[in-house]
Amino acid sequence: MSVTWSTSDPLIPLSDENLAFAEAMGVNPAIHENDFIFHFVDRRWAANGGRERAVKDYFQLGRYTADLTKTMITDVQKVYEVAQWDWAPRRLLDFASGYGCTARHMRHVFPDSVSATCDIHRDAVNFNQDVLGVESYISSPLPEQLKLPQQDVMASIPELRLSKFHEGLCWGVQDAYVCVKEPDPAATASAPTLSAPVSRSV
Ligand SMILES: C[S@@+](CC[C@H](N)C(=O)[O-])C[C@H]1O[C@@H](n2cnc3c(N)ncnc32)[C@H](O)[C@@H]1O
Repeated sequence: MSVTWSTSDPLIPLSDENLAFAEAMGVNPAIHENDFIFHFVDRRWAANGGRERAVKDYFQLGRYTADLTKTMITDVQKVYEVAQWDWAPRRLLDFASGYGCTARHMRHVFPDSVSATCDIHRDAVNFNQDVLGVESYISSPLPEQLKLPQQDVMASIPELRLSKFHEGLCWGVQDAYVCVKEPDPAATASAPTLSAPVSRSV
């Protein structure tokens, strides 16, 4: 199999099997060498399954989060339908996106939406924009300094250190604000069977 894209970003080398795995999921297989989510997953599989397994788990974790976001948004849409509000998630922002573990799946999971990422790391923003091809914005250390185009949905992991952003940004989001809690790593030890989300808030 030959996958061609040109980037000067340092990437995790992938086996043909894992390239095919990503292709079957319909996602860009490029994983940045500094992707901390990847290294987190990699450490989990170091003793059992190794790098081959870690790569698959990384792609599955991203799809899980994107699918979970879709489930929540679909619930929101149902409520809006009952209220007879004409609403669709046209613009969707993955806030604190890292190197696109989840964002790379958004195009596939939300084919009718424009998705974007936002992160404080310039490298991550450039990678998401230039390699993954996802519209991307640099964040700021202070919520009040952050200026973003209007979004219909913002998806983010509820981290304590980002709570000020979550509070502040939710007022700038048009209609739906989704916090996705990642599954407990222990619960994904036998991936792909992942546990139900521990919490959800819209
Ligand atoms: C646990 S990672 C989330 C990774 C990502 N959601 C994923 O699924 O791969 C936390 C992210 O928050 C980002 N972050 C920290 N402070 C931030 C800020 N002020 N604005 C935006 N992102 C921030 C970090 O750079 C990091 O990428």
